[in-house]
Amino acid sequence: MPTPLPPDWSDRLALDRAHVWHPFTQMQIHEADPPVAVAGGEGCDLLLANGERVLDGISSWWTCLHGHGHPRLVSALERQAARLDHVMFAGFTHEPALELVARLRPRLPAGLTRAFFSDDGSTAVEVALKMAFQAQFQRGEKGRDRFGALRGGYHGDTLGAVGVGELENFMTGLFRPLLLTCERLEVPEDPRRELRPDLTGWPERLETARQGMRRFFTEHGARLAAFIAEPLIQCAGGMRMWPPELLAELRAQCDAHGVYLILDEVATGFGRTGTFLASEQVGVAPDLLCLSKGLTGGTLPLSLTWATEAIYAHFWGEPASGRAFLHGHSYTANPAACAVACASLALFDEEPVLARAAAIHEAMKAAFLTLSEHPAVRQARVLGTIGACRLVDPATGAAHDPSLRFGWRLHRRALDHGLLARPIGDCLYLLPPLNTPPARIQEAAATLLELLSS
Ligand SMILES: Cc1ncc(COP(=O)(O)O)c(C=O)c1O
Repeated sequence: MPTPLPPDWSDRLALDRAHVWHPFTQMQIHEADPPVAVAGGEGCDLLLANGERVLDGISSWWTCLHGHGHPRLVSALERQAARLDHVMFAGFTHEPALELVARLRPRLPAGLTRAFFSDDGSTAVEVALKMAFQAQFQRGEKGRDRFGALRGGYHGDTLGAVGVGELENFMTGLFRPLLLTCERLEVPEDPRRELRPDLTGWPERLETARQGMRRFFTEHGARLAAFIAEPLIQCAGGMRMWPPELLAELRAQCDAHGVYLILDEVATGFGRTGTFLASEQVGVAPDLLCLSKGLTGGTLPLSLTWATEAIYAHFWGEPASGRAFLHGHSYTANPAACAVACASLALFDEEPVLARAAAIHEAMKAAFLTLSEHPAVRQARVLGTIGACRLVDPATGAAHDPSLRFGWRLHRRALDHGLLARPIGDCLYLLPPLNTPPARIQEAAATLLELLSS
């Protein structure tokens, strides 16, 4: 049974119920299960208003990098807010934005030299899509009015980003008439990431996928402004880990067909896959790179779209030339957010953040290997600090009937056992802050095993 909330919370929950509309939520569910009241955050834990402590097993939607309330991030925020809270970024510049680009630039592929600031993952993607389209247009490629994307991808919820996300799922299908034109390419999941892999026929399947990618570009390449992909793992698509060889092939195909490659590292960046960027593992450099989420260590919204000098050059000209990139947001390059991002990047220099990620990787493999013994678990797999599996009905081996809301119930029960886990459809995963002690991951797996068995 959950610990009851302090009495004063009943008024606050009534206020929430009366006026608040929560994201990704059929609000009717909160009639029976009100939102979980959170009072604080400490390290890898969230402190609930009922006094309980839960492991933030999904880093609060993959944002929290060094733990909640990291003193270095908090003091950077306080200092900067007192000095300069905000200033518009058109025609102005400031130290935190400059320090941020100076700190980040050396960690990125050498060709990415131009940083465009925006607010969140979706806007970083919008910026990349618009930049790609306009750059193609201004270099004389005027017929490139479509995008390519991987089937099963997710790039955010603004309409441009929805247009390159997976169209067939419930979040985006409805909006089809409003969206830009996107050609989608299927890539297989990589069985080599599985802890109990079945590699039968894998080289042939990989080769078939490679050929399919080549045919896709032969058919669509001339019309595409850009192809967008999350490198190595499609996170919101259900932690689909796809083969690195196909990312290298994607780069080659984009080059061969004059298509810009946009890599969306909004979720995969900042050590989540074991390296600073996921694309580093393949040595692939995009033309446009989207970063957000972990950029500020998970403290404030901020994003960056990095572009190559060649793309930037297509926007250069006399003011009257009409070549400028006319896009921006009120809070573009917010100084407080930039200062926290600098503090987060400084931690990568000063603390063994990637070594901790390596320790989490080992713990994650052990945890999901244990989980994979349960008959309700299939396809346990790990990439860097991300562990995932598919949940099935052990009696039939088939997916749970969605109307039973198995994932939601597991999520709510796990909270009562000290763990924030929130399956995406039938995908159960863990993606904790990078400062999580490995023993806590084993505990999380034990909790999940107990819940799956009960
Ligand atoms: C790969 C990817 N791109 C873009 C986004 C959108 O980011 P935001 O929710 O900050 O708009 C997400 C969010 O989960 C994401 O996973």
